[in-house]
Amino acid sequence: MESLDAVSSEIIGAIAIADSLDVLEAIRIDALGKKGRISLMMRELGGMNAEDRRVAGQTLNKVKDDIANAIAAKQKILAAAVLNERLEAERLDVSLPSRPETDARLHPLSRTIEEVIAIFGEMGFQVAEGPDIESDYYNFTALNIPPEHPARQEHDTFYLPVDAEGRRKVLRTHTSPVQIRTMESNDPPIRIIVPGRTYRSDHDATHSPMFHQCEGLVIGDGIHMGHLKGCLIDFCRAFFGVDDLPVRFRPSYFPFTEPSAEVDIGCTRQNGALKIGAGDDWLEILGSGMVNPRVLENCGYDPEKYQGFAFGMGIERIAMLKYGIPDLRTFYDSDLRWMRHYGFLPFDAPSIHAGLSGGGV
Ligand code: PHE
Repeated sequence: MESLDAVSSEIIGAIAIADSLDVLEAIRIDALGKKGRISLMMRELGGMNAEDRRVAGQTLNKVKDDIANAIAAKQKILAAAVLNERLEAERLDVSLPSRPETDARLHPLSRTIEEVIAIFGEMGFQVAEGPDIESDYYNFTALNIPPEHPARQEHDTFYLPVDAEGRRKVLRTHTSPVQIRTMESNDPPIRIIVPGRTYRSDHDATHSPMFHQCEGLVIGDGIHMGHLKGCLIDFCRAFFGVDDLPVRFRPSYFPFTEPSAEVDIGCTRQNGALKIGAGDDWLEILGSGMVNPRVLENCGYDPEKYQGFAFGMGIERIAMLKYGIPDLRTFYDSDLRWMRHYGFLPFDAPSIHAGLSGGGV
């Protein structure tokens, strides 16, 4: 047997100078592990006679305890040192200036939709929604656009594959199907707007296969063209922030409204620059009309009792006009430089009340 004293003081000495928990653990295994030096000595006790074993055993146990205690004590010291080192390294200097945050921007389309909702919200409209994938019935037939009607051609419809029942669903070409859905499941009076995505197979600087519209529908007792005009004049003035904005109603045709009117706003064009407001030119911004009695009947309403008006506008178009965005395709390019230029800080107060307060509402 090695001299126990020599082994013991060598181990205790190693513990004293151990400078990391890893080194300490290696010492522990080397001394007290299964095949450690002290453990092996313990095993040798088995071959001794009873008296020798008693004496050697006592000494060995004491050495073993001393080593274990020394390791435990050193472990505490080293663990504390590790903690201190970490605290030192992670020290926070709260007096340092903060890193600049990149502030996010609201997409002009989100902002425009918010503005439209805010304006109509003040007039008592509620927001309604419907599915992007529509049945032929809601997108066309119920809106008085039967199969073979020429208006269907104008919609450049995206058709889905024929389903199990032999029907072809469509990507809705306008938000007008939500008029039908709302009338079917609600009783008058109705006053809704429907902002949402719409789809047409068309792609150039002013058309995108996916775009946004906002529909409007008012149904009640005794609703007439005067209501339609007042509501839309107020909206246009509020939205563009021009109190005396000229608004013109031009006769038009939609299968689901009768009579129908296209709504134009006044503008001037000088050296290619467009200015919205009084001037000698006009810009078309939305379609509108009195709800066709056939559409009311399709929804189970008695046209003798209820009348209403509807309108629909392209969100991209009014956003381009209000914010001077020249190319519609850029709305969907996800170009951060574009967003930084045309986007809005979320906390910018929307300037939407000029027309409504100006109109005395
Ligand atoms: N749905 C029409 C379109 O997409 C717009 C419209 C809506 C016109 C409601 C009149 C009334 O062109």
